[in-house]
Amino acid sequence: MNAERKIPQHLALIMDGNGRWATLRGKQRSEGHIAGMEALRATVRNAAEMGVKYLTVYAFSTENWGRPQEEVDALMELICKGVEMESAQLIENGIKVVAIGDRSRFSAKVREAIGKIEQMTAAGEQMTFILALNYSSRSELTAAVKSIAERVKRGELQCEAIDESLISESLYTAAIPDPDLIIRTSGECRLSNFLLWQASYAELYFTEVLWPDFDRKALEEALEAYAQRDRRYGLVK
Ligand code: IPE
Ligand code: IPE
Ligand code: MG
Repeated sequence: MNAERKIPQHLALIMDGNGRWATLRGKQRSEGHIAGMEALRATVRNAAEMGVKYLTVYAFSTENWGRPQEEVDALMELICKGVEMESAQLIENGIKVVAIGDRSRFSAKVREAIGKIEQMTAAGEQMTFILALNYSSRSELTAAVKSIAERVKRGELQCEAIDESLISESLYTAAIPDPDLIIRTSGECRLSNFLLWQASYAELYFTEVLWPDFDRKALEEALEAYAQRDRRYGLVK
């Protein structure tokens, strides 16, 4: 790998295609999610090795609650198991885990598992691994608008003081830089309510690869494509 290559500081992933991966093999959708978990484990390691500093993954959207209960249950189980099984590796590799999204809808068991992994990995300095769980960009923005309005109502904040930084700071991602690259697997070319504010100047990369098949080579291809992009931010070079 070219050491001089431009690496995204913040890489975000829409891990899509687990269900189709399973169906293609005559398996249950939940087996696709298990295979997806393996791909995620490898990607966390690979991204950290390649020098990514922030890795955000879309693991469960607010809309995903509408899936069959059996699938939702399997996903919840996988979240709990996943964080439990991975904790030692994450600590060893200096990976700090942070969850974004509305936790209040999760069961106590899931909330505990999330809180525990955040606590256990808080000292990690190699890479921040952000899990978007019960996340949607519109609900995030709605919550931010509400909290800003409350502050104005209480007289703590003047309307004139509302600017782009204040909005950014009112989101779940307050302490996290905007994503430089967003990868979506499985051939779908949409954001599905993911990081809409934060993605303003993100480079988008879509691949046909189904998430469980997303390996080191697929990640390298995406990073190679990113390295070729010319980010102009509305300016003239
Ligand atoms: C992504 O894979 C994982 C989650 C949304 C949790 P899907 O489950 O959406 O897989 P497809 O899109 O149905 O193939
Ligand atoms: C987006 O995938 C959400 C996650 C990857 C967690 P979906 O499969 O839920 O999105 P749509 O339905 O194709 O837009
Ligand atoms: Mg999908």
